[in-house]
Amino acid sequence: MSARPADHEVLPDADAVARAAAERLVAVAAAKSGEVGVCLSGGSTPKLLYRLLAGPDFRDSLPWARLHWFFGDERVGDGPEAGSNRRLAEEAFGDLVPPGRLHPIPTDRPARDAAAAYAAELRIWYGADRLDPARPLFDLVLLGLGEDGHTASLFPGKSEVEESEAWVVAVPEAGLSPFVPRVSLTLPALGATPLILFLVTGEGKRAPLARLAAGEDLPSGRAKARGETVWLLDRRAAG
Ligand code: 6PG
Repeated sequence: MSARPADHEVLPDADAVARAAAERLVAVAAAKSGEVGVCLSGGSTPKLLYRLLAGPDFRDSLPWARLHWFFGDERVGDGPEAGSNRRLAEEAFGDLVPPGRLHPIPTDRPARDAAAAYAAELRIWYGADRLDPARPLFDLVLLGLGEDGHTASLFPGKSEVEESEAWVVAVPEAGLSPFVPRVSLTLPALGATPLILFLVTGEGKRAPLARLAAGEDLPSGRAKARGETVWLLDRRAAG
């Protein structure tokens, strides 16, 4: 039996997954008149989505002047991986994002300091220091699924998964390669949105999907939006 989360769409391939996510993002932005906050995921899967958004099919459908781009996590430290999630977005979006609207997680300081700085930046964006159940932090959160069932940089068995107050945490030891320090938004922050889209492609994700379907308590399974949590799977991942 193939393993599929409750609210999922199975699409033919990774490009179709990216396209479905792009269409959802356009709809979210079109439904608002003011500033729109999007929380981006990292890794490699979102690369296709970011290129689509900046490409001819979607570029002109997005209100770039009203969009603010945040990050669900980042690799930090002084190695080549540091800042790779920010680079993924910068390389794809280029100058489409007006100054001050890409909000990268700092990578020029220890993870704990970077987490504190990013939490302060999120509080300024939100205009309060406690999450109001009636008001979301983001309009849309994009997440990926790691082969071990992690999401953002919340790894199975690590204490950061249990964080229930802070919005951002330092993750000194990643649970999967690259084993570099990370900074991650917490489940309360990632869930403070009407819509979470998981983008999951490739056969390597069949195992975590099966573990989730079997009811295993994995960080990715705990990431729930206040409204819809939709899993966009390609056929290779869905099986
Ligand atoms: C990261 C991501 C991470 C990612 C998963 C899946 O920094 O690595 O934020 O949570 O979404 O590891 O990555 P892929 O989609 O590249 O497999």
